[in-house]
Amino acid sequence: MAEEEVELEARLQEQESFDPPESFVEQANVSEPAIYEEFEENWPESWERAADLLDWYDDYDTVLDDSDAPFYKWFKEGTLNASHECLDRHLDDRGDEVAIEWVGELGETRTYTYAELHREVNEFAAALRELGVEEDDVVTMYMPMIPELPIAMLACARIGAPHSVVFAGFSADALATRMTSADSEYLVTCDGYYRRGDALEHKAKANEGLDGVDHDVTGIVVDRLGDEYDHPMRDDDHDYGDLVAAQAGAEVEPVERGAEDMLFLMYTSGTTGQPKGVKHTTGGYLSYVSWTSHAVLDVKPEDTYWCAADIGWITGHSYIVYGPLSLGTTSVMYEGTPDYPEKDRMWEIVEDYDVTQLYTAPTAIRAFMKWGKQYPEKRDLSSLRLLGTVGEPINPRAWKWYYKHIGGESCPIVDTWWQTETGGMMITTLPGIGTMKPGSAGPPLPGIGAEIVDTNGDEVGAGRAGYLTVDKPWPGMLRTLYKNDERFLSEYWEEYSDPDADEWVYFPEDGAKIDDDGYITVLGRVDDVINVSGHRLGTMEIESAIVGVEGVAEAAVVGGDHDLKGEAVYAYVITEDGYEGDADLEARIIEGVEDAIGPIARPEAVIFTPELPKTRSGKIMRRLLEDIANGDELGDTSTLRNPEVVEDIANKVGE
Ligand code: WTA
Repeated sequence: MAEEEVELEARLQEQESFDPPESFVEQANVSEPAIYEEFEENWPESWERAADLLDWYDDYDTVLDDSDAPFYKWFKEGTLNASHECLDRHLDDRGDEVAIEWVGELGETRTYTYAELHREVNEFAAALRELGVEEDDVVTMYMPMIPELPIAMLACARIGAPHSVVFAGFSADALATRMTSADSEYLVTCDGYYRRGDALEHKAKANEGLDGVDHDVTGIVVDRLGDEYDHPMRDDDHDYGDLVAAQAGAEVEPVERGAEDMLFLMYTSGTTGQPKGVKHTTGGYLSYVSWTSHAVLDVKPEDTYWCAADIGWITGHSYIVYGPLSLGTTSVMYEGTPDYPEKDRMWEIVEDYDVTQLYTAPTAIRAFMKWGKQYPEKRDLSSLRLLGTVGEPINPRAWKWYYKHIGGESCPIVDTWWQTETGGMMITTLPGIGTMKPGSAGPPLPGIGAEIVDTNGDEVGAGRAGYLTVDKPWPGMLRTLYKNDERFLSEYWEEYSDPDADEWVYFPEDGAKIDDDGYITVLGRVDDVINVSGHRLGTMEIESAIVGVEGVAEAAVVGGDHDLKGEAVYAYVITEDGYEGDADLEARIIEGVEDAIGPIARPEAVIFTPELPKTRSGKIMRRLLEDIANGDELGDTSTLRNPEVVEDIANKVGE
């Protein structure tokens, strides 16, 4: 590096705050700082601003009904249809503009204009109807990043059938659990897809999942790989291409849905072994993701916006499909991995499509950093106007690298904190207004109430770690856990609410600290959820997979620090009498986890131990196991029933 450059680099590393570039502010969708007060003073009516981004059939009569809190209702009596909002209403002005630019891993591309997307969504909606799908039937999708996934989602939305998308990387068992829990009788899936150039079989995995579902399931199979790859069809399966061809030109009137009617279900990990079915509604969710796409991602119809997440997670639902399409912009969808065929694949796509906004995860940014700046430097990234990150805390070094080497020091970065349950972004700077502080997400968005409290629910002072809480409802919030109101109450509302006083506080299970200026730094989960490469996994789910393996007596899973993944799975295992903690058992444990959840949950290390550190009341001390995994100095062991085991385990890990 030239001396000058070294100096600049050093200055950048020291800089602690960055103002939004003037060129960005001038054109930002939201640039008036007064928006924070406006929301505050006129709350909850201020949320009409979000609802106004949509084209309602019938107007709502109340913005917020809190009479049955925390079962809040937003935009009551309003009616709309999400597929109409994302397609039909753009046809007149933008029918020939691109809705989805799809890039396949092998380099093939597909472009859908709004008119084309509208046509195929209608045809598939007609096909679903003909197969018997009725309003409120849950349709499951088990699909990778191919255009038929958003098409199927929008077709469901059109006929009022909630979708439940299961990430394609999840295992057959995970699919079966989710389909059973949702009583879902329809599955849209595909033959396979490409990963790092190889065709990956998917249909056999889907079939295996269906073997684990007790009720009958009608299947629809997209042929992604073509004739060269045969795929096993069941008697109840239909070919997607045939169904759509048979409905050529069909039109399906969008069903008028109530604002509170379910748009979709999304299963996510929680504290117990059972995934939670998070329920999102049509009016509140859609206005919220539309509003945050407008205000935070600065999406405009003429943009080419790219969220490099997978639609199998909430980020893809909100910010590849519903947010950007509701605003009539062009949304880029990429099938594959960022390093195939070369490590500049992302930058090649940015250059080829003149991408204006890029929204990705810190785990990806850490990988880009590791690969080196020569990859982005090969490409012209000057079309970029805004960068975003989501999914886990971003460390200041990675933030600055992203700012400099991808954003060319001229794009604001929005570090957006939110969750599957919140539907959309909650804490982040507004890119046209707020000073950015690397590592800190920023203040709560206008209209969002967030506080950092101690275990008693009392606010903690600036700079001290505490628990993040949300003390006001918001339109994008989950309404309940599917068919499980009780768990909804106990998981999110029990900890800090005072029901007698009708005071409801949502607890997201994250730790955080707040600065004097109100900026919030999210520190990570405080429950048994870990975050591996931005993927949310339940340690209990992994533990229950491990104890299901023959020869395992007990298991404790924790997240240990990992340079690229953020966190990695560490499994501490006690073997059953008569079994050895050997390579064979280790391999079977890894296989057991992959079968129950998927390769993303694969343990980084399996550590066999004769005992686990336990408190006198018999609880496993996970904190100590984390310290061991991280090679940190061990915390207090005095409250342990068996302090001597700690050193034994630490020595084993150190070996
Ligand atoms: C974490 C993903 C720090 C957090 C949208 C949260 C973050 C969990 C950030 C939700 C961020 C998400 N900074 N941590 N900007 N964004 N998280 O449900 O722990 O897959 O609770 O939703 O990711 O993960 P989920």
